[in-house]
Amino acid sequence: MNYDDIFSKNLPAPVDVPAGLRAQTKYVFSVTYADPEALPPDEFADAMRTALLREGRELAMYPPPQGHVGMRELIAHNLSENRGFEPDIDCMFLSAGAGGAIQTVLDAFIDPGDIVLVEEFSYLGTLGMLLARRADVIHIPTDDQGMDTDALENTLKQLAAKGKRPKFIYTISVYQNPMGMTLSIERRKRMVELSQQYGVPIFENESYADFRIEGPPLPPAMSAIDDQDSVMYVSAYTKLLGCGLRLGYGVVPPAVRDTLAKIRFGTSPSHLAAMTVFEYLRDHKDDHIERVGLSLRAKRDAMLAALGESFPPECSWNKPDGGMMIWVRLPEGADTWAALDRAVEADVKYNPGPVFRANRDGHNFLRLTYSHNSPEEIHEGISRLAEVFHKEGLFNTSG
Ligand SMILES: Cc1ncc(COP(=O)(O)O)c(C=O)c1O
Repeated sequence: MNYDDIFSKNLPAPVDVPAGLRAQTKYVFSVTYADPEALPPDEFADAMRTALLREGRELAMYPPPQGHVGMRELIAHNLSENRGFEPDIDCMFLSAGAGGAIQTVLDAFIDPGDIVLVEEFSYLGTLGMLLARRADVIHIPTDDQGMDTDALENTLKQLAAKGKRPKFIYTISVYQNPMGMTLSIERRKRMVELSQQYGVPIFENESYADFRIEGPPLPPAMSAIDDQDSVMYVSAYTKLLGCGLRLGYGVVPPAVRDTLAKIRFGTSPSHLAAMTVFEYLRDHKDDHIERVGLSLRAKRDAMLAALGESFPPECSWNKPDGGMMIWVRLPEGADTWAALDRAVEADVKYNPGPVFRANRDGHNFLRLTYSHNSPEEIHEGISRLAEVFHKEGLFNTSG
C-alpha cells in the first residue's frame, strides 16, 4: 500500500529536537516526571476502590464533555484557597494533562503566522505545538522576576504600530520552565494591565504551583488579579500524582468556553483517573503536597551540591524555590545540543537550551530536572555529565 499521496496536506510543521532525548538512560535529568518516591500506591489504590464502589456505574457512560463535576468543584475550591480565585466550574474543563488543555486552547486560537509572546526560554512542549502550527513565536526578555513587562510593553507597542495583535501572552508564571523564577506581584499586575490595554489575553500556565520548596508564599495567580476576562489558565495533577494519569485542566472566560464547546474541549481524560484523583485529594491533598515538597527539597539540594562539586566556576545556575528543575549556563561557545549524544552514551539525559527557543539558539544553556532519580543517583549522574562536558570541551570555550 502506498500512503505517500494520501496523507493530509495539513500535517504539522516538523520541529527539530535532538535525537538523544528519545534514548533510554538511567539518569533522566531531561523530563519533569512526578517524583516516584512520593507516590502513594496504597492510599491511591484505596481511593480508586472507594470511587469505583460509589460511582463506578458512571463508567458505563461517556462523561460530561468538561469532565467529572466533583473534581471540577474540588479544583475550584483549591484554586480559591491557594491561588486567589474561585472559577465557575462551567468555565473549567478537565484535560489529558496540562498539555491536553494547552493543545485544546491552541486548536481554538492558532493559525499559521499568528504571533504569540513567550518568556525568553519557554516550555518545549507548548513551544513545539506552536512551531508545529507555524505560529510566529516572539521571546520577551526575562530576568529573576519573570517576564520583563517593560520589554513586553515595547513589543506590544511596536506590534500595535504595525497593526499586529498577538493571539496571547503565554507565561509559566510559577517556577518557570525552564528558568525557575516566579513572576513577581508587581509584574503580574502590570502584565494584566498591558493585556487589558492592548486587548491581548494572557495564557497562564501554573503547572508547578503545588511544588513550593521554600521562600515566600506565591503571589496570587493573574486570574485573581484580572477583572476583564483577560486570562486563560491551565494546570495539572500529572506532576503531583503521576504523569501517567494524564489529568489536567483549563479555566477560560465564558466567551472562550463557548468556542471550546464547539471542539468538545479536546480529548477528555479518563473518567476513572478523575474519580480516583478526586477521591484521593479530598483526604490527602495537604499531606501529599508536603511529602512531595520534602522529597523534592532533598533532590534539589543533592543536585545543587553535585553541581557545586563537579562543575567549574565558569558555569552558573539558579537555586529554585520550587518546581523540579535547575537552569544552568555554561561558558559562551559551549554546545549542549551537540554534546547530548555523548551524555547519553554515559547514561545521562538533559535538555539542551535551544529546545526552549523558537529559533533554536541558546546553545550554552541546559535544563536539569531532579524529580526522577534518587539523591545518590543524582550525584552519580551529575558527576558523569561533568566528565562528558569536560572531555567535550564545554567547560572552557570562550565564544
Ligand atoms: C510548564 C508545563 N506545562 C505543561 C506540561 C505538560 O504536562 P502534562 O503532563 O500535565 O501534560 C509540562 C510538562 O513538563 C510543563 O512543564
